[in-house]
Amino acid sequence: MKQAVASKQAVGNEGATGGKTAGDRVLIFDTTLRDGEQSPGCSMNLEEKLQIAQILEEMGVDVIEAGFPIASKGDFEAVQAVAAKVKAARVAGLARATRRDIDRAAEALKGAAGPRIHTFISTSPLHMKFKLQMEPEAVHQAVIDSIGHARNLCDDVEWSPEDGTRTEHDFLCRCVESAIKAGAGTINIPDTVGYTIPEEFHALIAMLKNRVPNIDKAVISVHCHNDLGLGVANSLAAVQAGARQVECTVNGIGERAGNAAMEEVVMALRTRHDAMPYHCGVKTELITKASRLVSAITGFSVQPNKAIVGANAFAHESGIHQDGMLKNAETYEIMTPESVGLSRSKLVMGKHSGRHAFKAKLEEMGFRLADNEIEDAFVRFKDLADAKKDVYDEDIIALVDDAVLRHNDRLRFLSLQVVCGSKGPQTAELEMEIDGETCKAKATGNGPVDATFAAISQLFPHTASLQLYQVHAVTQGTDAQAEVTVRLEEAGKTVNGQGADHDTLVASARAYINALNKLLVKREKTAPSVMSA
Ligand code: KIV
Ligand code: ZN
Repeated sequence: MKQAVASKQAVGNEGATGGKTAGDRVLIFDTTLRDGEQSPGCSMNLEEKLQIAQILEEMGVDVIEAGFPIASKGDFEAVQAVAAKVKAARVAGLARATRRDIDRAAEALKGAAGPRIHTFISTSPLHMKFKLQMEPEAVHQAVIDSIGHARNLCDDVEWSPEDGTRTEHDFLCRCVESAIKAGAGTINIPDTVGYTIPEEFHALIAMLKNRVPNIDKAVISVHCHNDLGLGVANSLAAVQAGARQVECTVNGIGERAGNAAMEEVVMALRTRHDAMPYHCGVKTELITKASRLVSAITGFSVQPNKAIVGANAFAHESGIHQDGMLKNAETYEIMTPESVGLSRSKLVMGKHSGRHAFKAKLEEMGFRLADNEIEDAFVRFKDLADAKKDVYDEDIIALVDDAVLRHNDRLRFLSLQVVCGSKGPQTAELEMEIDGETCKAKATGNGPVDATFAAISQLFPHTASLQLYQVHAVTQGTDAQAEVTVRLEEAGKTVNGQGADHDTLVASARAYINALNKLLVKREKTAPSVMSA
């Protein structure tokens, strides 16, 4: 798979400086498909990963980390499929510092136009002693050996000292220097546990630049987790100290509290170019589309007040703000909705809205759907508009999320009839499709939701336990759609399912079935254990 250096430079946007100096270029490394998928409760199937990879490529992301090939057959196949499809971005596969992991990553990346092996090992005293149970000397040797092996298989190798921000400086410098000598072209410093603060992280990157003699032979990258809510701030501080690659995820999803949010990093660089004179190649106008796609696929809704992509990010509630906005939008808006792919016009939808208006509305809201998906969503929209006078943007988001992105599901909701009320017993009659076959069940329960879930379990027996059942009204009014979240747990694996409908019980059934579909994907994944080098 060794690639000529010329082809390496042809992939990704490294060369596209748009008249600015190459030194100011910040590479965007998106790890939504790898670290993002490690979010508790998250799982994506191959088709969903391809959809996300496609929009990331369109956005102009430089590197797409597609997965951890050794983790499971599903991960391997997803990396392979993304590698085969993506042409304009480099595709990375993660590997621990073992030959087996690295071989598997190289194998999965074979078809990539620009493959990258990303290998890592812990370097902090805590991780080396308790997690790896390895002496620092052995870890240092594993760094050299793993990178040497990876370089025999791939020209582009990235190395990460896991728990980098809690690593002793002398040891970090020694490992970084050896990693570069062994052939790593990118040195990624992870704040694995989201512990650092901006000033400290700035100083750490500056220290590496000052003390590692061969540091100018590699790109410095950063990978910040958000446990203290500082992922983006730390990433930007690192850029100001000389880092030129930022690892991030759409909507900030990822392990625990997540990773630095890509949309925040990118919009901060764009909006505050005066203070941070760096640029990246991301087309910010695709941010909303990417955010909605990731939210719909993962079932992780975006909090309304989330920066850049939250439903309220460009909404103005107070009279003073609205008045100011009417006079001059800049009074309360530091970036325009259009710059992230939102439109200012507000088409109101109702039962008389036709297919054409619906399509225009989807486009205005940043959805990018195939014709058959638009048709599916339109059918659901018509049903909803019959039951509900005004259809709001939030309704359409819930509907598209629920109706469109379920193509590969093995289990499908068909119909539900429930008897409920104070006289009991509450019963549910459910019709479901399992692997293409229609099946029916009738169950009683302690309330209508319990009866509905019991009917699902009758048709699809499983051992998962219900961890969370949450109902949220998408809009106001008694005819509002219900958006239900169901969290299931099985053998330490959790998944979140979502469903929306103007009937709360139908939404509940959809959410439960969605969670089971995600569990089926997740069952195939085995968490890679701590490495032994
Ligand atoms: O957070 C972390 O340390 C990681 C590494 C694998 C880069 O995700
Ligand atoms: Zn991480």
